[in-house]
Amino acid sequence: MTTKIAFIGFGGVGQSLAEILLERKEHLEEMYGLESSVVAVSDMMKGSIYNPEGLDTNELLKCVRESGSVETYPDSPHILKGLTSIETIQQSNADVIVEVTYTDVHTGEPAITHCKTAFENKKSVVTTNKGPVALAYQELSLLAEKHGVFFGYEGTVMSGTPALRMPELTLAGNQITEIKGILNGTTNYILTEMEKGQSYEAALLKAQELGYAEADPTSDVEGYDARYKAAILSSCIMGAPIAHTDVECEGISSITGEMVQQALKEGEKWRLLARIREENGEMKASVKPERIKDHDPLAGVSGATNAIVYECDLAGPIMLTGAGAGLKETGYSLLIDLIYYQKQKKLAKI
Ligand code: HSE
Repeated sequence: MTTKIAFIGFGGVGQSLAEILLERKEHLEEMYGLESSVVAVSDMMKGSIYNPEGLDTNELLKCVRESGSVETYPDSPHILKGLTSIETIQQSNADVIVEVTYTDVHTGEPAITHCKTAFENKKSVVTTNKGPVALAYQELSLLAEKHGVFFGYEGTVMSGTPALRMPELTLAGNQITEIKGILNGTTNYILTEMEKGQSYEAALLKAQELGYAEADPTSDVEGYDARYKAAILSSCIMGAPIAHTDVECEGISSITGEMVQQALKEGEKWRLLARIREENGEMKASVKPERIKDHDPLAGVSGATNAIVYECDLAGPIMLTGAGAGLKETGYSLLIDLIYYQKQKKLAKI
């Protein structure tokens, strides 16, 4: 049965998923039984469009790229334009809401309200917004469960590098005793550029130009972005919900060029590490710069790349490394969730 999709927010990430679904249509149907149809788009800047019978994704992408609006999509008797995001979630016949709005990570809004509205209307959600998972994971996952729908958020940590799904699927049976990782690309880029002699300020500027940094880079350099991700890992992988404000947090703004060069001379490197582990029966999470030995695999992670190590009691340390941002990669993270949604649907769990 076709999965009907509504995009709430249709910026670069949403458009990237729409493209992937279009380009991989046959493959997704044949390999995973994922037949999908985009029925609605609602975006603050680009307007909104809804057709219960499905929209032509090619035409939709063409409209956005040529006019910056989805409302230039040709009219037809079934098409409705101008619905708000909430109306789209409540009134459309979508099965899955792709929640990719521009959301303030500190409040989690409007994404949290969108997720709640979707679940209360028996619609599943896939999102790349960190706010709903870092701030309201328990409440939202319980609500999704109560209404028998799916909540996917793979892209909230390490974008399309499957940091969240991998432990669940392939590390099953292990006890994970610690998670540690480089979860912010901007700061890793800055630190590795400083190793090459670049100044902190010049490296930050370059990271902004390359699109790695958050709109407000304070969130990257002071460790807040990684702190949200650590809170997500603690709740979702360690099963220990922790408020992001309880994650001990220190950024890289106090790391000077001299400190970086001194560490190099002594065979070490500075990395901004997130750690989540149990200490005296309590889950502790921290984000702070650490000097690690040159031969530590995390020291070899350079540029904007992210990496995560799961310390497993049976399998030992398992490291996953890959992109932590990027439109294609983040669009792909939503596809991971959609394929998983499809599997659950097949098992009649939702
Ligand atoms: N600003 C983030 C980073 C993007 O640098 O990793 C992904 O959350």
